[in-house]
Amino acid sequence: MNKLCLLGLLVSLASQPALSASDTSVPAANSQATLHAKNAFISNLMKQMTLDEKIGQLRLISISSEMPQPMILKEIAAGRIGGTFNSIVRSENRPLQEAAVAKSRLKIPMFFAYDVVHGHRTIFPISLGLAASWDMDAIALSGRISAQEASADSLDMTFAPMVDISRDPRWGRTSEGFGEDTYLVSRISKVMVNAFQGKDVSAPDSIMASVKHFALYGAVEGGRDYNTVDMSPTRMYQDYLPPYRTAVDAGAGGVMIALNSVNGVPATANTWLLHDVLRKEWGFKGVTISDHGAIKELIDHGVAKDLRQAAKLAIKAGVDLSMNDKAYGEELPGLVKDGEVSVKEIDSAVREVLGAKYDMGLFANPYLRIGDAAQDPVDTYSEDRLHRVEARDVARKTLVLLKNKDETLPLKKQGTIAVIGSLAKSQLDMLGSWSAAGRPKQSVTVYDGLANAVGDKAKLVYARGANVSDNDHINEYLNFIEHEVDVDPRPAQEMIDEAVKTAEQADVIVAVVGESRGMSHEAASRSSLNIPGKQRDLIKALKATGKPLVLVLMNGRPLVLVDELAQADAMLETWFPGTEGGNAVADVLFGDYNPSGKLAMSFPRSIGQLPTYYAHLNTGRPYSPDKVGNYTSHYFEETNGPLFPFGYGLSYTQFDVSDITLSAKDMPRNGKLTASVTVKNTGKVAGATVVQLYLRDVTASISRPVKELKNFEKVMLQPGEEKVVSFTLSEDDLKFYNPSLKYAAEPGEFKVMIGLDSEAVKQASFNLL
Ligand code: NOJ
Repeated sequence: MNKLCLLGLLVSLASQPALSASDTSVPAANSQATLHAKNAFISNLMKQMTLDEKIGQLRLISISSEMPQPMILKEIAAGRIGGTFNSIVRSENRPLQEAAVAKSRLKIPMFFAYDVVHGHRTIFPISLGLAASWDMDAIALSGRISAQEASADSLDMTFAPMVDISRDPRWGRTSEGFGEDTYLVSRISKVMVNAFQGKDVSAPDSIMASVKHFALYGAVEGGRDYNTVDMSPTRMYQDYLPPYRTAVDAGAGGVMIALNSVNGVPATANTWLLHDVLRKEWGFKGVTISDHGAIKELIDHGVAKDLRQAAKLAIKAGVDLSMNDKAYGEELPGLVKDGEVSVKEIDSAVREVLGAKYDMGLFANPYLRIGDAAQDPVDTYSEDRLHRVEARDVARKTLVLLKNKDETLPLKKQGTIAVIGSLAKSQLDMLGSWSAAGRPKQSVTVYDGLANAVGDKAKLVYARGANVSDNDHINEYLNFIEHEVDVDPRPAQEMIDEAVKTAEQADVIVAVVGESRGMSHEAASRSSLNIPGKQRDLIKALKATGKPLVLVLMNGRPLVLVDELAQADAMLETWFPGTEGGNAVADVLFGDYNPSGKLAMSFPRSIGQLPTYYAHLNTGRPYSPDKVGNYTSHYFEETNGPLFPFGYGLSYTQFDVSDITLSAKDMPRNGKLTASVTVKNTGKVAGATVVQLYLRDVTASISRPVKELKNFEKVMLQPGEEKVVSFTLSEDDLKFYNPSLKYAAEPGEFKVMIGLDSEAVKQASFNLL
């Protein structure tokens, strides 16, 4: 039987066209013949399973925290564990698989999962940074390499991509997602699923994607992690649900369920979400996975009185795998015995778990990704397992130039450069949060990147200048699980004085400032968006030296940078740029690479202004900078709108965008229309930019956003070169969900806007007939 399955897969693989990493075709595992073989195989297996063995398959155990290793081995051999996560070395997972396939009665293989979010051993920039590349090939490459490295370490599944739309930078997990925009995040969602799963998820170098966190986790009230989500159905369908759906349509094998409640019902107990939307409406055929301990948390949510009721709610709602809690293992047997949960309900969850294992190729070969012991890497951390060239290239594409007064940048490789800031020499922080198996020792800091670039052509001088935070409470919090931040015990003023002295010897200052990586993480929401600690005093003191001041920002969320914008001569947003981050930053600072990144999230002027996102509604009293006055929608203390808009980012060259040419004034139903601009590089160096197309439905049955991204193209132009960029629009681009959740376009006027960020746009109009 197993050989036959394998043969089936090989046959279907052979008939697949060649795919690129970002290709969107349906994986071979879904072909009719394969589906038939899979269903027959699983039905046959399930007939042989006891209730205990079935419930065992629904348990996903955390290696690090849940039970000691000997107990895990015993439980696996007894058929009471379906899979584990957090164990990421072949030699650690091999005995677990042996316990399953050699000792358990039915020899059902285990699967091994991990949070491979933006790289595995080679760490790429955090997801918010990847999104800022607007480069689907670069993002696909990061995902493909992640899959190759993770599968080589025996992993079968990743808990990614994380596609929660987030419009509130107070939320620490903003760093983990791809930003505020539905269209951009949806495009990336598909690319990531295809990159992780490859041509076929059963290939040895593919891993199964579990898109998360379903649903709406990024909309937690006030940006406070795990908080409540309350949202109208139209906003859900229009803005927040599409990226998850795109992942499902792209064939993601798993869906991880969010920790938050949605309109009062926790996602983990939400039949509407898990059954009606996910399975019925979207046709999801894979496995659903609870988040860490989420079933038990139904008690704290106040919808279950005890663990038993929590398990009952979750299984009935459609949670297949229970991650890291005892709910299913302890409670499902009794619930079935008492007739409160039917065997049919258990069976449907088991079928999905076994189906996922089948799709991952584990029944055909349980050691598919574990391999032979003889071939285990001698050193898991060896340099030759890394993809440094690719990491550097991807990272350069994610850097966003926010300011460049009088061409302060690029810097020359000469004279003396003062490098200031504790982040400048922090290997750990380069990696960002959720850095999988990335090793700080292998990451290149900004200081080292600059040193590599200048060699002996220029002199670097360094001072720490300030701790990222001097607040004991914050540092204790950040160091709670692992040691994350080193604190220099010297008085803050002494450190600033030393930095000023260092800066005074130099021709230019490069200050690396921002957040430590743990500040932009799960459970790391912030109530302030300033650069933390005494770093702001440090910047002020450095500015006072009168030397050209370049701020290299490291952060996992939009920050409030009003003062810094005034103080700095140049600002480069580098996120947490990964293993090769320092070299990538140096490439851009010295002009060896011309920056082309564009923000995937608006940077607000103040925290009081949140939420600040570009695709807002117009309101009945829109603010207009030309008609300042009372009774319009704004805060009277400050200018409306972001400090840096969505889609913004400078280059070392300049681009001119022509007026828009439309192929017609009217678009018939089912017809098409082309909007074109000519983009010209009017500067002196070659450079890339992202041409962005936005639409506005001027009058509709409900208010529609002032603009919504509908397409973009990244173009590379030599000095003086121009290119016509054309976008084809169809009726689909004009559709939206009305209050009855009907997805349709309404006739009337549409504005089409094209530009190099969401604010600086050219505009034209057409009518949908
Ligand atoms: C909790 C996080 O919310 C989730 O994203 C992650 O996948 C799991 N822990 C497992 O690490």
